[in-house]
Formats: sequence, structure tokens, C-alpha cells
Amino acid sequence: MGNGIAHVFAQHGYSVALIDISEEALKKAVATIDKNLGRQVEKGAIDESVRQAALGHITTTTFIKEGVKNADLVVEAATENIDLKLKIFKELDENTKAGTILASNTSSISITKIASVTKSPAHVIGMHFMNPVPVMKLVEVIRGYSTSDGVTQQIMELSRHLGKVPVEVNDYPGFVANRILMPMINEAIYSLYEGVAGVQEIDTVMKLGMAHPMGPLQLADFIGLDVCLSILNVLRDGFGNPKYAPCPLLVNMVQAGHKGVKSGSGFYQYKAGSKELEVAERFKK
Ligand code: CAA
Repeated sequence: MGNGIAHVFAQHGYSVALIDISEEALKKAVATIDKNLGRQVEKGAIDESVRQAALGHITTTTFIKEGVKNADLVVEAATENIDLKLKIFKELDENTKAGTILASNTSSISITKIASVTKSPAHVIGMHFMNPVPVMKLVEVIRGYSTSDGVTQQIMELSRHLGKVPVEVNDYPGFVANRILMPMINEAIYSLYEGVAGVQEIDTVMKLGMAHPMGPLQLADFIGLDVCLSILNVLRDGFGNPKYAPCPLLVNMVQAGHKGVKSGSGFYQYKAGSKELEVAERFKK
């Protein structure tokens, strides 16, 4: 999601230092941003001049220290792994100037826990963007236990400047978005696992019956089945409630490497360069 977040800030005139661990990942990210800005130009959403200006606002580096030393805000969007996030936030804390706001795009990891490894938990906050970031309007702004009023207000205001609609929520497992979304996805997987209906039938019910833009199984593939599994585990452990326990089919699929779009196969199969969805072989009746 990092490239989508960088895209939105750059499009709205902010200078962005995009940081990743490899040059290759950075090249790919900038190419994706360029492609997605191009789409906005084609659709008439922005002018070519905005596209060019946005690209001019982005610099890249593989050195975290270099990238964050002058930043007023850092938005972390690393893999959803708590140890990795704690390590990154310690490093950010050591290498940013006093007063820098440290935000995480985590989809479920506790902001309060992340803030606990920094010297100034009042400056740590959640900025949870939704995929695809340039298109989706919501930013779930998560207040950790110690996040200050001032920092919360700044992030709410900034999100509005980015053309988004921020919603302030408190820091409890899954926040609001995933506390509601993941049990629905899990229930859809249970419906498949128990043979109530097939992949396309389940998705069609939710698309045509509830006006969801995509069915829950397709959405799970887009989010990443490994990410869905990890969020469900956070919900189950955080609330100590077995109602959030992930469906055994989801666990098996992740263990077998079927992680959705990113691995080329989940509930559907994904052909490179094609938008057409095919139900994965093992789920055909
Ligand atoms: N993640 C990534 N990409 C997505 C996506 C998603 N959830 N949803 C759509 N896209 C991509 C599509 O693959 C497509 O890309 P290509 O053109 O490269 O194939 C592009 O966006 C446009 O999609 P559509 O053809 O569907 O175009 P549209 O204009 O009719 O609709 C949309 C676009 C409004 C984004 C619609 O597809 C939609 O509502 N999708 C669901 C979005 C959603 O539910 N997002 C939240 C996911 S949860 C999350 O991000 C947070 C989390 O913590 C888990």
C-alpha cells in the first residue's frame, strides 16, 4: 500500500521520501505510481501537469535514516508483522526530529503497543488507508492510548487535505474496519468450507443482494489471505473470543501458499495481465 499512500500525498503537493529495503522495490513502486496517475489523467480526474508535479515531489531511498531525518510525518506501511513494526518504530524514534508524527498504516496491530517502543507515544497514531488508496475515500484514524488531541486533530485535518474522509476511532483489536469486515469474510469462507454454496455463488449473493462492489471471497484474495488470517488471529487473541477463530480452510490455504492475488491463486485464479477471474480448480463443483 506504500506506493498508493505516497501517490496520494505527492498528488496533493506534499514532498515524499519513499523508503524501501531494495532499489528494485522502489523502482517498481514509482512505476506503479506513474501508471496509476496516468489512469487518473485518462479518466479526466487530474491534469497531466498534476501528474508531472506529483512525480516531481517523490524521491526514493533505501536508507531509512536519510529518508526520515527532516520529515514532519512518517507513514509506515511495512508488512503486517508486529516484530518488524516495533523494530521500525524504534528506528524512526531514534532518527526523526522532535515533534515528528509517526503514523502506522497497520490494519490491526495495536497503535498503543507500537507507541510503547518510542520516547513520545503522544506522537504515534494510526492512519489506516484502504486499497486501492488513490480511489478509496476513507482514512481510519486510530488514536492510541496516549495519542494527544493535537496530533489527532492534525492527522484528521491532513487527511481532509488529501481529499479523504477521516474517521476517528479508538485503539481496540481490528479498530472498526477489520473488526466488521474480517468476521464477514471468515463467515463467507465457512460457508464455502461447509458446502453451503460455491465461490461464485457466495460472491454473487453479496454483490447482487447487498450491493457490495466485490464479493467477500474475491475481496479476501485482493487483501491477501495471509493478511486476513493474521487479522483474525489478532481479533481472537485481542478479545480472547473464539468467535473470531479463522476458518480451517483459510489456515490451510495460507499454509499451502495460496494467498490470493499476490500468489496468483486463492479462491480465484489470476492470470498475469488479465482482469478475468477464474474460480480456482479445487473449488469447481
Ligand atoms: N485492492 C486492490 N486493488 C483493487 C481493489 C482492492 N480492494 N479493488 C479494486 N481494485 C483494482 C482493480 O483490480 C482494478 O485494477 P486493474 O484496472 O489494474 O485491473 C482497479 O482497482 C479498478 O477496479 P474496477 O474495475 O472494479 O473499477 P471500478 O471503478 O468499477 O471500481 C473500486 C473501483 C471502487 C475500487 C471497486 O473495485 C471497489 O469498491 N473495490 C473494493 C474496494 C475495497 O473493498 N477496499 C477495501 C479493502 S480492505 C483494505 O484495504 C484494508 C484492510 O485493512 C484489509
